[in-house]
Amino acid sequence: MEYKLFFISFISLTITDVAWGRRKSASACDQTFVSDIAKNGTFTSPNYGGIYPAGLHCRYEFRGVGRQRVQIIFTDFNLYHPHEDSPEHNFPTWQQFSCEVADRIAAYVTVNGRKEKIDDYCGIIKPKELMSNGATITIDFFSLGSSKGGRGFSAKFAFVENFGITVGEQLITHPCLFRFNSTDNSRNGSFWSPNFPGFYPRSTECHYLFYGRPGEKVRITFDTFDVEGFPPCASNQQSDYVEVSNYMTVDRKMPRYCGNQDGLVLESENQFYRVSFKANDRFDSTGFYATYRFIPVAVPVSVTRRQETPNRGTTIGPHWTLSTLFVCLAAGVLSR
Ligand SMILES: *[C@@H]1O[C@H](CO)[C@@H](O)[C@H](O)[C@H]1NC(C)=O
Ligand SMILES: *[C@@H]1O[C@H](CO)[C@@H](O)[C@H](O)[C@H]1NC(C)=O
Ligand SMILES: *[C@@H]1O[C@H](CO)[C@@H](O)[C@H](O)[C@H]1NC(C)=O
Repeated sequence: MEYKLFFISFISLTITDVAWGRRKSASACDQTFVSDIAKNGTFTSPNYGGIYPAGLHCRYEFRGVGRQRVQIIFTDFNLYHPHEDSPEHNFPTWQQFSCEVADRIAAYVTVNGRKEKIDDYCGIIKPKELMSNGATITIDFFSLGSSKGGRGFSAKFAFVENFGITVGEQLITHPCLFRFNSTDNSRNGSFWSPNFPGFYPRSTECHYLFYGRPGEKVRITFDTFDVEGFPPCASNQQSDYVEVSNYMTVDRKMPRYCGNQDGLVLESENQFYRVSFKANDRFDSTGFYATYRFIPVAVPVSVTRRQETPNRGTTIGPHWTLSTLFVCLAAGVLSR
């Protein structure tokens, strides 16, 4: 599995470098957007509203500053694919949905000082939201010499500092740090990974801090969770991960989470909880969308039961503990 992923990544880097080097000169349809002039706006393929011409190579460059990230949201996407003209059985399967032989868009970001391709997009399926991992992103649009054209694309761009995370209170002591307080009129809400539901940007680390009031803890439910990696989700295995802690510092007792974990529920022990998300510089997934709720720290079980059944309360506590112990032992035996 790891070898396979490594191989795919190697190929994509190679193709990236070739595509990047191929461009000889600027073209009339090139555009540059800098954040000093507009923090947001739209851009389109040439002659949008009509049909774009064949043989184009347009480069759209977005340059922010400082902590800005560029977010690109496609609102319309309709590119010519030769597959449309070919009876399916005459067209090799591998080419049918390959963007290499079609009109396409390629998005590039800079990772550790070098340009890397996020992906190619072609056909008529709108790409997911894109986000740069630094302050710049480059979008190339190619149409084949033999292209019959299409509507092209229309997209919105924005230079953002919040990674598309519009909830909580963003703190400036770290590039991606959000605080959630429990208050009278706000005990629950949602939060998500950078650029959700688009792919999260590479080399990004975000922290979400939950501050309950005395006697409260927080329960987090990950409605969707797709973070690239393999258990135990170690960074030296090239895994992205989510890590939680009851402290501001790392809690080594707590496992890390990666892979597909839809429905995962986690709870703090006490008032404070930290959820951290870390993406390395390779591979992309959509990340997570979660809801949180501040709830009372549970009253110990034996006390609750004693109130409900005053006569038997004193025996239920130990009995419950013993059967739990039994279940744990049984589970331990079975798992061997
Ligand atoms: C776009 O930027 C302008 C200021 O340049 C701002 O007032 C507006 O809220 C922004 N719109 C969005 C959707 O971010
Ligand atoms: C959260 O609580 C801290 C400490 O009381 C306070 O400084 C901060 O302004 C609060 N934030 C919000 C959004 O209520
Ligand atoms: C918060 O809780 C209220 C009441 O249970 C619910 O109506 C609302 O949808 C919740 N909000 C989120 C973001 O989960």
